[in-house]
Amino acid sequence: MDKMLVSGGATLNGTVATSGAKNAALPILFSTLLAEGEHVFRNVPQLKDIESTAALLESLGCETRRDGDTFRVKVNKLQSIEAHYDLVRKMRASILCLGPILTKYGEAVVSMPGGCAIGTRPIDLHLEGMKALGAEITLKEGYVHAGAKRLKGGTILFETCTVGGTENVMMAATLAQGKTILENAAKEPEIVDLAEYLNKMGAKITGHGTSIITIEGVDKLTPAEHTIMADRIEAGTLLIAGAITKGEVTVEKCVPQHLEALVLKMREAGFKIEQGKNSLTVFKANTWEAVDVTTAPHPLFPTDLQAQFMALMTVAHGTSVISETIFENRFMHVQELIRLGADITPKTRVAVVRGRPDGLTAAPVMATDLRASASLVLAGLVAKGDTTVGRIYHLDRGYENLESKLQGLGAKIKRVE
Ligand code: UD1
Repeated sequence: MDKMLVSGGATLNGTVATSGAKNAALPILFSTLLAEGEHVFRNVPQLKDIESTAALLESLGCETRRDGDTFRVKVNKLQSIEAHYDLVRKMRASILCLGPILTKYGEAVVSMPGGCAIGTRPIDLHLEGMKALGAEITLKEGYVHAGAKRLKGGTILFETCTVGGTENVMMAATLAQGKTILENAAKEPEIVDLAEYLNKMGAKITGHGTSIITIEGVDKLTPAEHTIMADRIEAGTLLIAGAITKGEVTVEKCVPQHLEALVLKMREAGFKIEQGKNSLTVFKANTWEAVDVTTAPHPLFPTDLQAQFMALMTVAHGTSVISETIFENRFMHVQELIRLGADITPKTRVAVVRGRPDGLTAAPVMATDLRASASLVLAGLVAKGDTTVGRIYHLDRGYENLESKLQGLGAKIKRVE
């Protein structure tokens, strides 16, 4: 199994471009199930999670084709309305096929995703949303069975802000009869990107990007073309890579407005950051201060950058308190960072990080989830000696060519068997 070998100590300098956003591409690819014909997407990152999505779409009877960063999905009348456990367990986001299949075909059978490393991650809010639109839901032998002749618009108040739940119900509501209002909807930029694609297909959605989304149901959608938004989490990770190695790095092809919470915290820590139209530059800082961070729904600090920011704090001056409010078990990277010499006390949802500006020391470590693996790579960049990060298949789920992007900036990093 591949590992990442990171030789610490190199300063990263230069310019690097962001890829398309995994978390926008996944729901958008599932939304193709709403309209038969050929859909064309650009800026689709080459990732394991995209391959898993393609495999699921193909199992339902669709055809997919990649040509560089262009990805086509030809949707035929579905041969199956069932998303099998073997495909769903590989990627939790597969549950996003439920809304599109149910609303278009009146019936869907989707495996329940099960637990994952960062918490229980239930799908109850997805199912409540479908029920509020008139679906009958039963759970049998690990599968969700959903049925409704035609969904009917309704008002849904999400008890918790859920990105996937908002996306799933929004997709289902596009072909429902009448108007649906989603209250306490998630406001993440990826939801906006999805809504924009749905509208290109003929949906009538307004309010996306705010906490109230209104969807006027239509009878039919038709395929369209779309360029996937830039990956704000990848951009943030690369910016932190420049910062932690005391370098000057410009991250291009990103949307700075999507990264305001991170930039605010990095500036508070003492970094100079310049914002261009589609770029962010972090300038060399020899030292930085510890700052506290609390994760929360967009536009506040993203949980998907918590682990990477923690890596930055392990070598800051002072003590930082990092609070995780989105997932109950998202400190799996802490024990691995401690193996690299970090001084961290983890509690249930809070970690106290006592910075060690003199740096970390290399060790073999193990990735536990996607963002945790990125934080270990970042820590490895400043740990003295050679760090190996195992189980990097987690990294391949969500970062396109991370090692070559970091190599381009001067990092000593390579994939080894
Ligand atoms: C998405 C992102 C993930 C990110 C997360 C939060 C994708 C593919 N993944 O995940 O990278 O970390 O948003 O920004 O876009 N919850 C329930 N019941 C539900 C659904 C969610 O209780 O039915 C809870 C979750 O357990 C969690 C919280 O709501 O505590 C937020 O989860 P959610 O926003 O749904 O995350 P995902 O869509 O799974």
